[in-house]
Amino acid sequence: GGLVAPEALFADRINSRGFDLSDPAVLASLDAVRVGETPDATPIIVGAASGPTRPVCNPATGAIVAQVTEADAATVATALDGAQVWDAPAHARAEVLRRAADLYEEHHGAIFAALAREAGKTLPDAVAELREAVDFLRYYAAQGAADSRAPRGRIVAISPWNFPLAIFTGQIAAALMAGNAVLAKPAEQTPLMAAMAVRLLHQAGVPRAALQLLPGEGATVGAALTRDPRVAGVVFTGSTETARVIARSMATHMAPGTPLIAETGGLNAMVVDSTALPEQAVRDIVNSAFRSAGQRCSALRCLYVQEDIAPRLIEMLKGAMEALSIGNPWGISTDIGPVIDANAKDGIMNWIAAHQGQILHQVRAPETGHFVGPTLIKVGGIAQIEREIFGPVLHLATFAAEDLPQVIDDINARGFGLTFGLHTRIDTRVAEVAGQVQAGNIYVNRNQIGAVVGSQPFGGEGLSGTGPKAGGPLYLGRFFAPAPREEAI
Ligand code: NAD
Ligand code: ALA
Repeated sequence: GGLVAPEALFADRINSRGFDLSDPAVLASLDAVRVGETPDATPIIVGAASGPTRPVCNPATGAIVAQVTEADAATVATALDGAQVWDAPAHARAEVLRRAADLYEEHHGAIFAALAREAGKTLPDAVAELREAVDFLRYYAAQGAADSRAPRGRIVAISPWNFPLAIFTGQIAAALMAGNAVLAKPAEQTPLMAAMAVRLLHQAGVPRAALQLLPGEGATVGAALTRDPRVAGVVFTGSTETARVIARSMATHMAPGTPLIAETGGLNAMVVDSTALPEQAVRDIVNSAFRSAGQRCSALRCLYVQEDIAPRLIEMLKGAMEALSIGNPWGISTDIGPVIDANAKDGIMNWIAAHQGQILHQVRAPETGHFVGPTLIKVGGIAQIEREIFGPVLHLATFAAEDLPQVIDDINARGFGLTFGLHTRIDTRVAEVAGQVQAGNIYVNRNQIGAVVGSQPFGGEGLSGTGPKAGGPLYLGRFFAPAPREEAI
């Protein structure tokens, strides 16, 4: 009995302390990498010795920052032939992953610069991303250090550009902690961050045959990796459409039962009722919808506001949108950076243009570089949002108090199930709505992005993914070989 000291409650928490952007030492490390002065035309060659080359662009300027030699069919074949499971005791693998986490933290300046230059990440987003990557390494290391189960074999890890360090590292860390041979294919847009991460993992002691990097196009390198019958499992994060393509290929070419862990898209909603605290709701709406330029699978896409508070809340929201600073991601006071590339910008701008008559507010954005001004669009409900718009676009619908059950039904019927937000001060409503909404992560009276490894396992259901949740207790288990079946007597 008795009270437990707070330190004891959190004794097993291994989350990184992160970096404080007001700390002069951290600021000095940013100055040292001089991202603004990096000669954008200097080619950096990473990847395979032969194969197609692809320019990597800085989304904030459109300038080419590197030419990457990608893998081709021959490189993929050689990588699959040469892949070897990591033959070291679990505690030794855990030690190497912990060393990698320390190396990541040590190289924070270069990592923040890479995230800004190649992915357009703002500094606060880069700090949060490094923290999450480090957390994944330490969390899976802690979980697996005493686990004696056998690995599956060759694991293909395919990741998106929107978390080119955290998601890339999370997949690899779990697969490696279980002793597998990992073939990692980063997104086309972000191979430099991936190359830096792999260099640090190798430097920490991961054998080269247990972790190979295969930069390249999804339709070629990704497709080749996901149709090889020697592959024992695929871990994928990206769009729902790509997950379907991969699932079909695996079903055709791989042994039945080969696992696919797919973390996919979201069309996430938030409900704000008339008892919510408006200032708090507006702050959380803006963060959820527009931070990271809306390029998070968890981001808020469809806001439902109870009709009696809607006029006031919309006015406050417009004011908060106008206060956002949009521009150079490396600027210490920038809130919103660019979207990833010209294609992404075109797709988002086409959506906005098609809803011209419904725009409630749009913030101006810089014209050079791939920027999109945060935009608020009026809709009748979530059913009218035909696809996941992966950018700073928020759709708003209003509802009458008696229609709340219908709103929840509509959200569930849309089929995605990643995040959901609720702002209310009615306690019974929290339990009621949380019990009805089909979503992996439900957030009450706060923003709905930025799940914390170990505390908030992250992942969805339905069109949003297969589970198990990343950064949660069940994830690592999927990377071990199943126990041999007992023979029938
Ligand atoms: P994407 O599906 O276009 O690409 C993801 C990865 O798949 C890339 O590496 C790509 O090269 C590869 N790929 C594409 N076609 C392939 C194929 N035929 N075979 C094998 N691999 C292939 O997604 P994106 O645009 O990079 O990322 C944005 C999407 O990711 C959004 O839908 C977002 O919601 C989702 N996402 C989900 C989560 C989550 O945890 N649920 C997290 C981040 C992003
Ligand atoms: N895990 C990320 C978030 O929660 C995608 O925003």
